[in-house]
Amino acid sequence: MQTLADKRILLGISGGIAAYKSADLVRRLTERGADVRVILTSAAQEFITPLTLQAVSGNPVSHSLLDPAAEAAMGHIELAKWADLILIAPASADVIARLAHGLANDLLTTCVLASSAPVAVAPAMNQQMYKNIATQKNLATLKEHNFHIFGPGVGAQACGDTGAGRMLEPLELVALTEQLFSPVKNLQGLRITITAGPTREAIDPVRYISNHSSGKMGFALAQAAAAMGAEVTLISGPVQLATPAGVTRIDVQSAEQMHQAALSAAVQSDIFIGCAAVADYRVAEIAADKLKKGAEAEMQLTLVKNPDIIAAVAALPQQRPFTVGFAAETRNVLEYARQKLLNKRLDMICANDVSASDRGFNSDDNALSVIWRGGELDLPKAPKQQLATQLITLISEHYKN
Ligand code: C5P
Repeated sequence: MQTLADKRILLGISGGIAAYKSADLVRRLTERGADVRVILTSAAQEFITPLTLQAVSGNPVSHSLLDPAAEAAMGHIELAKWADLILIAPASADVIARLAHGLANDLLTTCVLASSAPVAVAPAMNQQMYKNIATQKNLATLKEHNFHIFGPGVGAQACGDTGAGRMLEPLELVALTEQLFSPVKNLQGLRITITAGPTREAIDPVRYISNHSSGKMGFALAQAAAAMGAEVTLISGPVQLATPAGVTRIDVQSAEQMHQAALSAAVQSDIFIGCAAVADYRVAEIAADKLKKGAEAEMQLTLVKNPDIIAAVAALPQQRPFTVGFAAETRNVLEYARQKLLNKRLDMICANDVSASDRGFNSDDNALSVIWRGGELDLPKAPKQQLATQLITLISEHYKN
């Protein structure tokens, strides 16, 4: 689909190993109808060549502020005015620092200063550099200046470290770009609470019971709802994800903590979305000290049922929000989801099949069947950010009716 038809995107590529993915990003953007022009910083040229980007974008590539030939073709001020969006991916710690301080010491930063277009940056750097207080302060400054921050992702890094600082995948960046351009539904004034991620049920001070939920779907929903102007509270179990811009985050560990936080937030919300993979059971008595290995071949833990958070929200006698649940299933997906919609008295349920490894739990993609009383809609497999925008739009439409 030509979701970015005729959109003029100035893609800034700075120096980082993730630059090798920028050629694919250009291809994905142009596939969707965007006209892409690329600016490379001098460090970026150590990672990817202008020729590659010229070939995939079909446009000349700029890299120097003081290049008479390039200036004659399309000068830097013209380029800055041409753009509907400036997307910087990867955005290195250095470029983020320079943007935060309004420097104009190369073509990319000069164009940003000279442009009135929205700017989105996709940070990409070593996890320690990302965590560094200087980088965090620079990113906070960019947020204050209304820059959009895409990511970063969390995971293995080229340097061998693991943590937050990976550039988001090209398709995730495309989905966020589409969100920026989509005629944004105005959800201003709408208060949305979302639960996300797994819960952790302690066994003793060092062990716990949990599940594989990454929290990505709930965080994508929070990001989409906030981008559309909603006031979002995100109640999150332990996950490795950065808080989306403009979202109020409450961190919890156990289902009981999530239950408490969810009920307090729900009565002040218009919409409640339970996306968390809440543990159904917890250990009856958490051992005060680490359990020691005994001589026995078996050990038994007594588990007791956790409160059903979403059912409690849906049963609120007063100030009950429009309540949306998720049903992650490995078989009979639709049947179980329809039962849950009724048993938990939800307004809407989003069923997803978690038996396939290319979607659902811990994956960047998902596919959902959304069911409400009187209707159903399939949202086919797509990056979670894209699905999140579709789902928030659908939920807000049903909330209003
Ligand atoms: O675990 P189950 O399949 O019942 O989860 C379906 C929905 O119920 C999800 O929206 C989940 O967030 C919610 N849930 C909950 N509290 C629980 C168990 C599940 O809110 N204890």
